[in-house]
Amino acid sequence: MDKFVIEGGKRLVGDVSVKGAKNSTLPILAATLLAEDEFIIENIPRVRDIFTMKRVLETLGVSISLEDDTIYIDTRGAVGFEAPYNLVKQMRASYYVLGPLLSRLGRTRVSLPGGCAIGPRPIDLHIKGLKALGADISVVHGYIEGYGERLKGSKILLLGPNGPSVGATINTMMAAVKADGVTMIEGAAMEPEVVDVVNFLKRCGADIQGEGTRKIEIRGVKKLSGCKYRVIPDRIEAGTFAVAATITGGDIYLRDVSCNYIGSILSKLKEIGATISLEEDCVGVRMDGDIMPIDIETAPYPGFPTDMQAQFTSLLSLSNGVSVVKDSIFEERFMHVPELVRMGANLKREVDYVIIKGVPCLSGAQVMASDLRASAALLIAGLAAEGTTEISRIYHIDRGYESIETRLATLGAAIWRLKE
Ligand code: EPZ
Repeated sequence: MDKFVIEGGKRLVGDVSVKGAKNSTLPILAATLLAEDEFIIENIPRVRDIFTMKRVLETLGVSISLEDDTIYIDTRGAVGFEAPYNLVKQMRASYYVLGPLLSRLGRTRVSLPGGCAIGPRPIDLHIKGLKALGADISVVHGYIEGYGERLKGSKILLLGPNGPSVGATINTMMAAVKADGVTMIEGAAMEPEVVDVVNFLKRCGADIQGEGTRKIEIRGVKKLSGCKYRVIPDRIEAGTFAVAATITGGDIYLRDVSCNYIGSILSKLKEIGATISLEEDCVGVRMDGDIMPIDIETAPYPGFPTDMQAQFTSLLSLSNGVSVVKDSIFEERFMHVPELVRMGANLKREVDYVIIKGVPCLSGAQVMASDLRASAALLIAGLAAEGTTEISRIYHIDRGYESIETRLATLGAAIWRLKE
């Protein structure tokens, strides 16, 4: 297992291009199963989760090749209906083939995702959406089995106890695009990744309205065709670099960003004291002076993203006061807290929030990555800490950030990957 070694204390300065959004690429790749045709998808992030989705699709008979950041897909030979345990256990988002396979083959069998480092991750809303379209879904021997020769449009409320679900909205939409009649999803997720998937489906010939609102209307069409499509930039990667620049008192320029999608992240950085400049698809982030304490509560889009909570917790650890960061979207998304405490942070976790008393400095330590964003938080802390930080289990970071160490090193960070 590879490790990162970081010598903290270097200011990040310079330009960095943001890669394509992992969380819209994954469902878009699955959605290609809805047509029997060829696709070219551009701006693909070369991260581990994308390689796992590639293997899932290959298992189903899809021909797929990745060259630089472009993926070439031919779904004409896809006849498989099963996503096996060994792949789903590596990446929950493998469940995105459920909706497309039901629509294409009237049959699917996908391993039930197991536990997750950020707490319970039920998939009841995915099942509710598919059942509402007339599919017969059951869980047998650890697999979700679905049948449904002719799916039928329906009105579906997809709200869970913590609000809308990105995954269930997308899965249900994908199953509904070729269903008979009209589907109305109420309580839909409004995240940019949902809108990106809709834009892709429309390019393939789908008839969808209301994306980016809580009500999405889908009129079933007979057939979808292949297309060429470019994935949106990753807003969480952009936010992660912006926080890294802020914590090091740096001055960076993020290129290829969708500024509209990162408003809640940038406004929190401004409150903390960063100077933000916006220019079409670029964002400048500069930090001079003290890190100001602020309170943050995560919320579904357009609120502050849960996927940025851990990184801001690292940043606020070095503020000059007390901050409270609340995240109730996923129950256990605080695995970074005890690791940051090992680096000298003064953090107290209550049920769904952390009280952060800012300290003047963090000290490098040996820490362990536990999930994707928690790992990004440790990396950010390591960039600012005094001395050497060693992060183990960095395969979690590789799931969602492409060559992060090389890109940070270009900005001036002292970071190395140790192969083990
Ligand atoms: C997506 O997960 C992202 N993953 C997550 O990013 C992100 O944190 C999350 O959306 C919220 O924005 C991908 O896109 C692959 P949800 P998803 O369904 O779709 C509850 C990262 O670090 N819920 O929107 O699985 C759920 O427990 C990852 O890149 C149900 O109750 O999240 C949570 O409380 C981690 N029943 C809330 O809804 C369900 O059937 C929102 O989850 C599904 C979800």
